Amino acid sequence: MCHAAFDPTAMLRVYLNIGMCFSDCSEPVFPVPGTLFGDKARYHPFRAKQCYQACEPWNQADAKMDDLPVYLATGGPFYLRNAVDVDGTPGRSYIDDALVPRGRQVYARECALCHSSQLAPESVRSDREALSRFYEGHIFGREADWKAEVGAAQSADPAFSQKYLQNGRPRQFAADGDFGQDWLGNDQITPHDIVGTNRCRSIHGNQVPDAVWSEFSSETYKERPAPSGSYPKKFNPMTPLIGGKENPFGVNEEIDQGRGYYRNVSLLSIWAHAPFLHNNTLGPLIRRPDDSIGYTVKEHVAIYSGGVASLLRPAARFSED
Ligand code: HEC
Repeated sequence: MCHAAFDPTAMLRVYLNIGMCFSDCSEPVFPVPGTLFGDKARYHPFRAKQCYQACEPWNQADAKMDDLPVYLATGGPFYLRNAVDVDGTPGRSYIDDALVPRGRQVYARECALCHSSQLAPESVRSDREALSRFYEGHIFGREADWKAEVGAAQSADPAFSQKYLQNGRPRQFAADGDFGQDWLGNDQITPHDIVGTNRCRSIHGNQVPDAVWSEFSSETYKERPAPSGSYPKKFNPMTPLIGGKENPFGVNEEIDQGRGYYRNVSLLSIWAHAPFLHNNTLGPLIRRPDDSIGYTVKEHVAIYSGGVASLLRPAARFSED
C-alpha cells in the first residue's frame, strides 16, 4: 500500500530530536551558552558524516530505517465502517450511505486534485469539470466499499461496468490488487498562500542552506521557487521589548530557499485524526468532566464533524483572535 517515497535521513531526525547521540552530534553544533556575538553565538549545520563516525547508535538506527515504513504500513487505515465503540455502537451508524455518492462527486471536483494518489495530469488540474471526468470510475475508498461509494444507480449500470470494471472489480484493484487503493494524498507541495492555512510553520528556516538541519533537505527542496509575495519582517521574538513586532522601516522578507509550502497530506483515517491541520486548530476538542480529551468513536466523530464543518464552511470558523 505504501507507494510513497520516503527519506530515511528525515526519519532519523526523529531519533535525534528525542536525544539520540546528543553529546556526539547535536551539542557540538549548538551556540555556546552566554555568547551573544560571533561564530559561537549561532547554530552550525549538523553534519551527518561527523555524526555517523562519532556515534554508533546513529548507524544502528539507520540500518533499521528501510524496515520502519514497511512496519508502519502493515497497520493500514482505520475504517469508521469497521469501528466498534466502547458501548458496542457500530461506527457505520455514523455514515449516511444515501449521501456518500454525492460526497464522492464533490471530492472528485474539489479535493482529489491534492488529496488523491491518482495524480491528475497538468492539463486537467485547473478545470473542475475535467477533474470530475478524470476521476469518474476511480474509487477513493477501499475495494470492499466501492458500490456504496459510487451508489446503487451507477454500480448497477451496465455502461459503468463496461467502462470501469474488469472481471467485476474496479479497474484499479483488478490491475494492482491492494496497491490500487488510493491513499488520499499525493505528497506534492502547495504554496502556503494557496492552501490558506497559517503560514508560520511553512516559513521556518531550519533546513535552508547553512541552517542547523540543512543537510536534511535536498537540493531540489532548497531550489524550489518562492511562493509569490513578501511579508513584513518581524524582530526575533526573544528580543526584549521589540520581540515579535514588525520592523518599522518597512523591511520585507521573501519566503524563499525552499520555504513556504505545505505537503498535500493523506486523508486516510481522517475521521480519527481531528483536530486538523499542521497546528491542530480545526475541530473542537471534546473534553470530559476530568478535562481529558474524548477518545471514543463517538467523540472522535464529533471532533471530526466540527473540524470538517469549519473547513468547508468558513462562516462556521471561530475568529482568529
Ligand atoms: C490545492 C491543494 C488542496 C486542495 C484542492 C484541498 N486540500 Fe486539503 N489540504 C491541503 C494541504 C496542503 C493541507 C495541509 C495544510 C496544513 O496542515 O496547514 C490540507 C489539509 C487538509 C485536511 C487536514 C488534514 C489533517 O490531517 O490535519 C483536511 C481534512 C483536508 N485538507 C480536506 C480537504 C477537502 C475536504 C478538500 C476539498 C473540499 C480539500 N482538502 C482540498 C491541500 C489541498
